[in-house]
Amino acid sequence: MINNRGGVGKSDLTLRLGAALAKRGRKVGLIDFDPQGNLSRRAGWIYNEAEPQITVSEAVQADRVGTMRQVWTPVQWKAEYAQRMVLAPAWLELENRYAEAGLPGSHLRLARALQGADEDLDDVLIDCPPSLFHLTQMAMSAADGVLIVTRAEIDSILGAKRVRTFIGEKAHALHADDLRIDGVVVNDYEQGKPRQRQQLASVRRLFGDLVWEPVIARREVIANAANDFVPLEDAKGSQLTQAVASFELLADTYEKRNTA
Ligand SMILES: Nc1ncnc2c1ncn2[C@@H]1O[C@H](COP(=O)(O)OP(=O)(O)OP(=O)(O)O)[C@@H](O)[C@H]1O
Ligand SMILES: [Mg+2]
Repeated sequence: MINNRGGVGKSDLTLRLGAALAKRGRKVGLIDFDPQGNLSRRAGWIYNEAEPQITVSEAVQADRVGTMRQVWTPVQWKAEYAQRMVLAPAWLELENRYAEAGLPGSHLRLARALQGADEDLDDVLIDCPPSLFHLTQMAMSAADGVLIVTRAEIDSILGAKRVRTFIGEKAHALHADDLRIDGVVVNDYEQGKPRQRQQLASVRRLFGDLVWEPVIARREVIANAANDFVPLEDAKGSQLTQAVASFELLADTYEKRNTA
């Protein structure tokens, strides 16, 4: 999940799409690749300094094949999710990996860490930081495809274009020649606002068939679930049914596009 514009919903989409896929029986891995650790926190994970846990940061720093095997931990949610969703957590420590960006081949370290460590998983979703720098580049080198997340708003649409241009220009240097842009998800859409409608039209003009259905509406219940670290269906707020349904439909699109 990429956009160097912050706050567009990358972390929420990673978590909610992952949960919708797990609900239909898939085994899902979520990688928190953002030192903010928002995805980890929303999945119920807390870093405990008294009992340090190995996180994605150490797995990448080791620069060895398969180190992610030691990192996966069940999401801290009820059993139906904990049995099918594993998290590679992150916290502020991950910032230290930026200092190693200049080391030869350092952009390949996540791919190496994942080698042989994702065989039991049907899907692995990587939540990137709001940046196109080293951590996101490592994610690009490790991934098969990119899902660009945007709002119907000019700054994030420009961010989405920048992601596409960046991949076009830099994929080769990142040893990611086969990296696909799988789609563009429009999130946090405010229905009934003419300006939002215009901006959504411009996303469709710019990205055509790459734009996934459905557009995810802005709903308080989605923000509440993130704030309370719970699965969406356990969150408080109105329009829960519609919110849950929108991620179910997004999971349909994901499955259709990934098996096409
Ligand atoms: N569809 C939505 N409806 C309501 N609130 C939303 C929606 N999507 C995201 N949010 C809220 O907006 C805020 C930003 O979302 P999120 O943290 O997922 O974005 P992000 O792109 O990961 O941010 P960052 O760039 O900082 O990593 C969060 O509080 C989140 O819960
Ligand atoms: Mg985020």
